[in-house]
Amino acid sequence: MGEQDSLTSPVEIIDLPEDLVDAAVALWQQTGLTRPWNDPHEDCRRALAGAESTVLAAVDARHRLLGTVMLGQDGHRGWIYYTAVEKSLQGGGIGKRLLTAAEDWLRDRGVPKLMLMVRQENAEVQQFYRGMGYTDQDTVVLGRWLDS
Ligand SMILES: CC(C)(COP(=O)(O)OP(=O)(O)OC[C@H]1O[C@@H](n2cnc3c(N)ncnc32)[C@H](O)[C@@H]1OP(=O)(O)O)[C@@H](O)C(=O)NCCC(=O)NCCS
Repeated sequence: MGEQDSLTSPVEIIDLPEDLVDAAVALWQQTGLTRPWNDPHEDCRRALAGAESTVLAAVDARHRLLGTVMLGQDGHRGWIYYTAVEKSLQGGGIGKRLLTAAEDWLRDRGVPKLMLMVRQENAEVQQFYRGMGYTDQDTVVLGRWLDS
């Protein structure tokens, strides 16, 4: 981001528009959320195309991307991914607004619970979620790739 005037202009939470997809991927790269085994453009495209998923974006009055959260629901639980705020604006409340908007999106669809995963190496970010009422779940997350 060039000029640092975003927090003085109103921040709006909207569905990520097509013209900000590249900016979203750049933000995820900047904030260390991308991994070689995930294609972030494809992740974004699928979430935006799905009937039960989306990517929410925080934008300023000049339509600049400030933050994102990807979310979806599977009929039982809601999950979020790619929660990120532009580095120079972190700590200013945008993350909180995005997470609240994700909760509202899920609540509106009757989803009773929101789940999320934090990578082991990103432990300090847990404070952000704990401050928003998220707690440890007595569970182990397992996974496997579906193609060989
Ligand atoms: C995590 C992230 C989205 C939070 O967004 P943010 O705009 O910085 O968060 P906010 O300003 O809304 O912070 C809300 C609260 O969480 C706290 N907080 C935010 N990030 C924190 C961190 N990394 N460590 C500790 N506390 C944190 C803030 O101090 C604030 O506390 P307060 O309400 O008592 O003042 C942002 O820091 C980010 O993009 N991090 C890098 C990407 C990342 O790791 N995402 C999470 C993947 S699971």
